[in-house]
Amino acid sequence: MNALVEHRVFDHVPLDGTIGLEDLASKIGWEPAVLVRFINAVLVQGIFEEPEPRVYKHSASSTAFRDDAMRAYYQLGYVSLTAINRISPKCVPNTSKVSDYLKIHAPRDVYDPLKSPFSYSRGAEGKTYYQLLEQDPAFSDVWHKGMAQAAPFNPVLGMFPFRDMKEAVEAEPERAFVVDVGGGRGNALVDMMKECDGSFGAPMVLQDLKEVLQGEDPVRIDGVQVMPHDFCNEQPVKNAHVYYMRKVMHNYYDDKCRTILRPIVEAMGPTSRLLFGDMILPETARPGDDALPFYMDLRMLMIGGTERSEAQWKQLLETVGLVIVKIWRLPGAPHQATIETRLRGK
Ligand SMILES: C[S@@+](CC[C@H](N)C(=O)[O-])C[C@H]1O[C@@H](n2cnc3c(N)ncnc32)[C@H](O)[C@@H]1O
Repeated sequence: MNALVEHRVFDHVPLDGTIGLEDLASKIGWEPAVLVRFINAVLVQGIFEEPEPRVYKHSASSTAFRDDAMRAYYQLGYVSLTAINRISPKCVPNTSKVSDYLKIHAPRDVYDPLKSPFSYSRGAEGKTYYQLLEQDPAFSDVWHKGMAQAAPFNPVLGMFPFRDMKEAVEAEPERAFVVDVGGGRGNALVDMMKECDGSFGAPMVLQDLKEVLQGEDPVRIDGVQVMPHDFCNEQPVKNAHVYYMRKVMHNYYDDKCRTILRPIVEAMGPTSRLLFGDMILPETARPGDDALPFYMDLRMLMIGGTERSEAQWKQLLETVGLVIVKIWRLPGAPHQATIETRLRGK
């Protein structure tokens, strides 16, 4: 299936009508005698139909694989929709190896970021996903740029009223408006500044690892202070109006999340907010539901992380002294959310 998906065999079989083996093989540049062996192996599963010998058409099951999101399930590219075509397969974890991984690892190994299925697929157990990413500049570059391309599928705006903070921020502009912790190349801050026509006179701070911010292609954004910072260390910006973390928590299980959250909690003031731009996993999966959150959850499993349901979020946040003020869900895609939190008792 993976070979058929990667070589886009599903796209070359017409939605209406049929295609002969020779024709199909020439479209993907394979030997017909080789292609038929792959197709036979899936035909028996109800994938494709063969109305005449060596002539194929779609079945209900095979049609699904024309869909980019379904293709991404196999390839598990982070950018699961249109941008998959633009991102190097180099940064796609080899999910086909996860089955082997599960055969030879202890059941709880999956929770160890040094033993993630991704590290295993790279023959690099002992290193985390991000260590592997940052030690390979080409991989890192494509991945971080891919994150920026993926922004339309993981929106920042429309889930929290940044603009409504005008009065509070203008009243205390010496406090940073937003500190984007693990903010990558800063695309979230750019969106927020667009919504707010600037930053209400207060600093905007982008924090990420030095290699990300000051690597081969250093990040420079007008109006943004770029600050290399390892989020496991003391948070240097105190009492910001907003600390923002987008798509960071889902990279880790709870213990590591607590290590990342504690320095921010210590830096927060009574009116500071910590916002998480993340998915909320539905409690149940039913046929016909939006597949994206569940694909993302599996994707996170590969790199040593997890998506969380509302109950799991609550449980994690409580253990570091945060309470949820409100979950701002995106209309039309309620699994996309901004979780607004504050210090407990403030
Ligand atoms: C999934 S990306 C999200 C990036 C960004 N927030 C966004 O939404 O586009 C996670 C980010 O965490 C950063 N990161 C990983 N380890 C870090 C660390 N120890 N300190 C600071 N940032 C780190 C990565 O470099 C990456 O940019």
